[in-house]
Amino acid sequence: MDGAGSGHFDKEGLEYIVTNPRLVYPYINYLTNGRYCSFITHTGGGYSFWKQAPAYGINLWAPALDNEPGRFVYIKEEDGVWTPNWRPVRAELDSWQCRIGLGYQRLEAERRGLKAWLSFLVPLDADLEYWILHFINDSDKARHLEVYPYVELLLGQHMPNIISYYSNILFNRVRHADGMLVAEKTYWNRESFMPNREWPVKVFFASTMEPAGYETLRDEFIGPGGGTAEPRAVTTGRMSGEDNDGRPAVFAHKYVIDLPPGAEERIIIAMGIAEREEDFDRVSYHLRPEVYEERFEACNQYWLDIAYGETAFTPDYRINHFANIWNKYQARICFWWYRSDGSYFICSGNEHWGFRDSAQCILGALPRFLEDARDRIDYHIRLTRSDGSVDQGYIHDLAMPSGIPGNIDVAMWLPISIFFYLKESGDLAAADEVVRTLDGVEMSLAELVYRIIENVWMRRSPRNLVLMEKGDWNDAINYAGREGRGESIMASEQLLYLCNEYLELASLAGGVPGSKSVRSVASALQKALEEHAWDGGWYIRGTNDDGEVIGARGNEHGEIFANSNSWAVIAGLSGERTTIAMDAVRERLLTERGCALFLPGWKNPDSDIGIITRFAVGTKENAAIFLHATAWATMAWALLGDGDTAMKSYRSVLPNIRSAEDGDLYKSEPYVYAEYIIGPESEYFGEGSHSWFTGAAGWQWHVFWGYILGIRPTYRGLLIDPCLPADWEAVSARRWFRGAIYEIEIDKEIGISKGAVDITVDGKPIEGNVITPHGDDTVHTVKVKVTEKGDV
Ligand code: GLC
Repeated sequence: MDGAGSGHFDKEGLEYIVTNPRLVYPYINYLTNGRYCSFITHTGGGYSFWKQAPAYGINLWAPALDNEPGRFVYIKEEDGVWTPNWRPVRAELDSWQCRIGLGYQRLEAERRGLKAWLSFLVPLDADLEYWILHFINDSDKARHLEVYPYVELLLGQHMPNIISYYSNILFNRVRHADGMLVAEKTYWNRESFMPNREWPVKVFFASTMEPAGYETLRDEFIGPGGGTAEPRAVTTGRMSGEDNDGRPAVFAHKYVIDLPPGAEERIIIAMGIAEREEDFDRVSYHLRPEVYEERFEACNQYWLDIAYGETAFTPDYRINHFANIWNKYQARICFWWYRSDGSYFICSGNEHWGFRDSAQCILGALPRFLEDARDRIDYHIRLTRSDGSVDQGYIHDLAMPSGIPGNIDVAMWLPISIFFYLKESGDLAAADEVVRTLDGVEMSLAELVYRIIENVWMRRSPRNLVLMEKGDWNDAINYAGREGRGESIMASEQLLYLCNEYLELASLAGGVPGSKSVRSVASALQKALEEHAWDGGWYIRGTNDDGEVIGARGNEHGEIFANSNSWAVIAGLSGERTTIAMDAVRERLLTERGCALFLPGWKNPDSDIGIITRFAVGTKENAAIFLHATAWATMAWALLGDGDTAMKSYRSVLPNIRSAEDGDLYKSEPYVYAEYIIGPESEYFGEGSHSWFTGAAGWQWHVFWGYILGIRPTYRGLLIDPCLPADWEAVSARRWFRGAIYEIEIDKEIGISKGAVDITVDGKPIEGNVITPHGDDTVHTVKVKVTEKGDV
């Protein structure tokens, strides 16, 4: 019963069916083609935006209000008003469910034999959203309906609409023209670089059914003192049909439908962006039923290709389900929108996308979308200065840095993703390709990575450890190193990892400069880390400006941190110590619901450490189970060969598993990762929070495939190095790699996690455990035997 009281997955696991609309947090889906995004809740709430959420908002959104706006369809019959959304009318229905699908959403409601389905889709090839209304009269009586689709408009910027609503609406214009409603905004106050101009796009709303009336004025639709639960237009049937000049704006239609017993009616509505006048001419094309059908099929196919692409079959069906379908769905969507501010939980109106996060989300495009990954790499390079420095964020559509210098770690995530990309694509020549930086300097891709390493290395303490400055990966440790003396062990380890990766690349590719100095950085870092970061039982997290240690044995708060220990493994520090350290992490931080970021959490604010101490204990960066970071812990355990712990860490945070095991406690969607699960010191321990909003999707997928299944790209080919739970005997997996498909069967001796690996490819034994790429567009059969002794 995955999802406890909220619903369940369908048989194939391709849909999550919400059966209870009364959820604490909405269940969310992103319907998107990477440009237009309709962020939609299980009751049709949420908002749509184009390119950049805070600047190109289409409809209104305000979370956590009891009258959250949304895309509603009111149905009026002689005995009352109801909606397939369930909200905002909340009328008694005979049945209701919401199917959350890959790229679509469908609300299905029934009342006294009348079925009303409301489906939403964003096509791949047009920047609009479809609302499909489908009515079926299954009763034995003729039904007379008045139907009112309704949506409240934002038109442009989110922030002024919240803080200065009554001034912001003065720029609204909505007209009825050529059978459609068209909305625009005459002012777009997008910071000082673009004053005195209008919102550069318009929004249309049109349908296949000729409306019997329409509304553009919210006040007319709702009526004085009314609300969306009982709009006056619906109760009276009166639509003003007037234009809107500077008033709260809506799109609403009225349809009158008579349905004899057994009859059906389908109405297609399209709401979308028009950049140019010609775009309005295409609206009637968008509305053609066959065009919609084709687009629905294409969208389905797109997501099914992803779902059925890389697949793994382990003895645990819930792992298979999540990793094969929903993890990839989320990773693809987060590749586009994570950190875009287009989120339910964080919609600050802040235009800045985080460089660190979107650089990491490049992993979400691998293995299949190599071109997208490359484009994103190039895009990030254009945001990087020739000295290797970057800003914390950037304005996406303008490709402009935010103006706030990046934390010490920020730039390093770009090369990390570049290394993943190079290994996946095998495109070693890319290292020598000329790229152009933000300040217009041309250099090779490898040199840019070198500059990034150099830039971080310049910011080090006298002990040769990277500084903490205003925070590292953990943005919330933002005061410990403000004065420039505190050190970050995690960032130091990250830099060491980068150096090691760089040196490996230098040994294989031409045109990789500076390997001599990178080698000396690596050895200085390694020495400093072993000398100053080892605390006897684990690696500390850092020091503050006064030289006090964060993450040391005996500390009242933050005694042991996961990240500085998992990254010690990832960076290749001493095998003996890292084993002791990760054992300590297992004992002290790994719970049944995942691995905590650190423990104990801060119960009271400490201004010398920073925001981390100000969050309620167990939430966000303050000792939560942070899913992004748990991926690194899992990776570390797998690298150390501890397959049981790696599996526990991986499995225990899977949303379908959390939801199945913790039922109503989990609260977050069972089909996508949340940013974190509330940690063990909170009374809400186990609740998932800030769903979708996480870099975890990409990392978790790569850690599962690359380090647990152990199937991961290297420069020389596809490495097979599984680290499985001791009691697993067999796994099969299918993966695309550099132009061929590999069907891999792994058989393992019971009782071990890792062992000697014997491999045959298409029936022939190979030397070692790296498959040389075939690149021949065909399928290859790989049989892998893992045994304690080898050669059985
Ligand atoms: C959030 C941010 C990410 C940061 C992490 C820890 O996930 O998006 O950039 O690294 O929190 O502070």
